[in-house]
Amino acid sequence: MATYANPVQLYFGTDALSSLTELVRSSGHQRLLLLTGAHSLKASGYLAKIQALLAPTDVLLQDQVPANPDVADLFCIKQATDSFAYDAIVAVGGGSVIDTAKALAAFKGHTPQSIADVRAIIQSKAYLPLTAPVCPIWAIPTTAGTGSEVTPWATIWDREESEKYSIAAATLFPRIAIVDPALTLNLSPTMTASSALDALSHALEAYWSKNTNEIVRLYALKAITLIVTHLAQLLDHPADLTLRAHIASGSLFAGLAFSNTKTTSCHSISYPLTLQFGINHGVAVSLTLGQMLVKNEPALLQKEELFSALGIAQPAELITWIRAILAQAKIATRLSEYGVSQDDLAIIAAKSFTPGRMDNNPIDVDKPFLLELLASIF
Ligand SMILES: [Fe+2]
Repeated sequence: MATYANPVQLYFGTDALSSLTELVRSSGHQRLLLLTGAHSLKASGYLAKIQALLAPTDVLLQDQVPANPDVADLFCIKQATDSFAYDAIVAVGGGSVIDTAKALAAFKGHTPQSIADVRAIIQSKAYLPLTAPVCPIWAIPTTAGTGSEVTPWATIWDREESEKYSIAAATLFPRIAIVDPALTLNLSPTMTASSALDALSHALEAYWSKNTNEIVRLYALKAITLIVTHLAQLLDHPADLTLRAHIASGSLFAGLAFSNTKTTSCHSISYPLTLQFGINHGVAVSLTLGQMLVKNEPALLQKEELFSALGIAQPAELITWIRAILAQAKIATRLSEYGVSQDDLAIIAAKSFTPGRMDNNPIDVDKPFLLELLASIF
């Protein structure tokens, strides 16, 4: 038996952003927190457009969400916005912005007095039970990769403690997701490639996850086909809106796939790479994706269909394809190029076993295998 649930109301396609006008009118929200990062949205001109669309309501702009937000960032943003008493959050940005919106929604009934309080609430899951009604989130992604607009969890980092936390609750799905491919037109080649490879990882990890089922695999196969067919072309033609739309839909379908399975080994291994060496999330997951396809081959269901979607005959060909995409976007493919030393490999291996992720891989991963894998990409 297969089961599947995703409650996010989707608006997808060219000019989807304009649906904000009607949504603002019909929602009844009076005070909106507009959450975004510091740079890209302003540079693209979309911030002004979104502010105009939200104008009938009272809007507080918080545009200081950093990449990979940590507990200190969350504390600062909460301190700066609580007094506004918003009744919904409009999160416009990549996964970091949408995840911050989810964290704020989870913390709505809490008033932490310090960063340590934020850490304690997350570690003890004191934000649970998070029963409805939770502060609604309207997620508007400006990258095509994280899938955060259709998942119920958020990643919050803790650089001081060298930890990665997940805030998760079934009620943290965004209420609405507006996926307008035009918002990704200004992404750099690095961000275009890395976020699409993140999406490819979501699709593949959902496909082989212990929690997979035939509904999840339909979304995953569609996502894989779209990304593998169009990503190299898009890197050559970054202003092509049709190609942007293909990758945006690939990312969305990947998000819908892994929203019901969670991720597996590649994400688990990526966390110390991002936390300790600053490797971009999408790059970090892609560095082991092909190798894990090789490892997981004996457990793959409908292998022929998957390989056909990937455009490969043998699993190792995916390693070559990913390296070619990274090279095309001028992204380093070796751990040593990111400041990782030989001695660090054992530390990375020790930190790679995130509960709920590594044990969601269909084939057991042990330390010796992991050390061999890390050495192969060193
Ligand atoms: Fe991811």
